[in-house]
Amino acid sequence: MTPMPATKRLVGRRCIVTGGGSGIGRASAERFAAEGGLVLVAGRSADNIEETVGRIRAAGGQATAMVADATDEAAVRAMVSRCMSEFGGLEVFLANAGHPGTNTPLLEQTVEEWDEVWRFNVISSFLAVKHAGAHMVAQGAGSIILVSSAGSLRANAGTIHYSASKAAVNSLVMGAANAFTGQGVRINAVLPGLVETKMTRPVFEYAKQRGKLDRLGHMVPLQRAGQPGEIAAMAAFLASDDASFVTGQLYAVDGGVSSTYPHGRIPV
Ligand SMILES: NC(=O)c1ccc[n+]([C@@H]2O[C@H](COP(=O)([O-])OP(=O)(O)OC[C@H]3O[C@@H](n4cnc5c(N)ncnc54)[C@H](O)[C@@H]3O)[C@@H](O)[C@H]2O)c1
Repeated sequence: MTPMPATKRLVGRRCIVTGGGSGIGRASAERFAAEGGLVLVAGRSADNIEETVGRIRAAGGQATAMVADATDEAAVRAMVSRCMSEFGGLEVFLANAGHPGTNTPLLEQTVEEWDEVWRFNVISSFLAVKHAGAHMVAQGAGSIILVSSAGSLRANAGTIHYSASKAAVNSLVMGAANAFTGQGVRINAVLPGLVETKMTRPVFEYAKQRGKLDRLGHMVPLQRAGQPGEIAAMAAFLASDDASFVTGQLYAVDGGVSSTYPHGRIPV
């Protein structure tokens, strides 16, 4: 279930994707390149990001890899500089790198866990907004996309720190859109529901072991988990001029789960 581009909306656009070595980041990097973008694939594991770049080049696209930690300000600044030196500009920044934290009951969560989750999800997003934003404001154009989560809209007993951090990302999107008023820079968020990636593999493995794989889609109106390419399709839309009048918005791509009551009915 990977939508393929019908048009090439990103021809010549210079793009940075963080966490591009797997999952949603890899799918988005591939999608941007398939639509004609030049993609700087950033991530922590050289092997993984090189593999993404190899896949893009094998498909005829343009990409380069950069080992960089999205939570490190110097590294984020360096990503922007590298995109400028390698491709000559920057029009699109997808801040995708993120971290789920441990699945721990609320009263057992620690300040250290909250700090870690905040750093991976909120600080990394802020750094993307700050450094890509500075460049884009100066050129009077650009699109920043933050990867939040449908979990930011719903209660989740085990990963409250994660949901709260992604809610902060949503707030950052709305605040930054206002801060960029009149400056030509758009910023939006995509909020994935349950998507099959490295991050969620334990969930799928657990369900599989218990013979309950089909239950994962049980509360989802579209009755299944998503695929990374389905999130990438929304990211590509937001990166493109098809979204030229869209900023400050939160787009759930979650099979409808955030729009419904648990089990699809009023809980009475
Ligand atoms: N998979 C889901 O169900 C789901 C749901 C909602 C939101 N998300 C969000 O989607 C984003 C991508 O997650 P995914 O599901 O593709 O998981 P994933 O584990 O496949 O990908 C995350 C990637 O980010 C990289 N990364 C993590 N921290 C980094 C850092 N500090 N600097 C650079 N790279 C870093 C990892 O190495 C990995 O390659 C995350 O922000 C996640 O919170 C995922």
